[in-house]
Amino acid sequence: MECKYTKSQAYDRQFLLDNMMGPNSMKILEELMQLPWMLELKPDMRVLDLGCGRGLTSIFLAGEYGVQVFATDLWITASENFVRFKEAGLENRIIPIHADVADLPYADEYFDAVISIDAYHYFGRDEGFVDKKMAPLLKKGGKLAIAVPGLVKDIHDDIPQEMLLSWNAEAIETLRSPQWWRKILSKSQQMELQAVGELECYSECWNDWLQCDNEYAVGDRKAMENGAGKYMDLVYMIAAKK
Ligand SMILES: C[S@@+](CC[C@H](N)C(=O)[O-])C[C@H]1O[C@@H](n2cnc3c(N)ncnc32)[C@H](O)[C@@H]1O
Repeated sequence: MECKYTKSQAYDRQFLLDNMMGPNSMKILEELMQLPWMLELKPDMRVLDLGCGRGLTSIFLAGEYGVQVFATDLWITASENFVRFKEAGLENRIIPIHADVADLPYADEYFDAVISIDAYHYFGRDEGFVDKKMAPLLKKGGKLAIAVPGLVKDIHDDIPQEMLLSWNAEAIETLRSPQWWRKILSKSQQMELQAVGELECYSECWNDWLQCDNEYAVGDRKAMENGAGKYMDLVYMIAAKK
């Protein structure tokens, strides 16, 4: 079968395993970038990588497209990411920023794109969030592209036992179906929702993650090895600033 993720697979596998914080974010981003609603990234563009974690997606964006990336995260410090970006030879194109999404230090209409992989479900579930926090950052026509772990359908009233082997109700609350996300984002006044769907790389990205030694990956194995995978999904959303 033809491999769809040739770019991300060219990176050192151990480097990826050492720096993953969830399902393989580089592969997720590679699929997201192939979707027809995405903008074509060019070297003079500024991209906010929101909730970049250890910066795998920032490295991919700067390395593959030559864009200027503002690698922004809360749990991982700017200094830690700076070391990684220097080692990747990309310190001139990636600016590491330690910030909370509630208080981002960026000018209005600064970015051509805001890209957020495996992070938006922690902070973006309120209906007004997208207009209050995301839309102001984007230029007119700029894109918001999100991918999050989610659910095939919402099961919060009757959580399957397999899911509870790894995650508590609070964590499961963050996992939502494509329909749920469509409803939230379609209420935006400032962004036009262009697409919501499921990513094909779901199984591959989860399998990559579950092979990590990371304690969270080890914790996630219990549910996934007992069949929770059938409820899970990788949901993408793409919207454009009006
Ligand atoms: C599961 S990790 C994923 C990291 C990375 N995107 C990846 O896929 O490898 C979720 C990330 O969301 C970030 N995050 C969560 N809440 C945040 C907030 N309020 N502001 C900024 N980042 C946040 C965390 O710092 C964390 O690195």
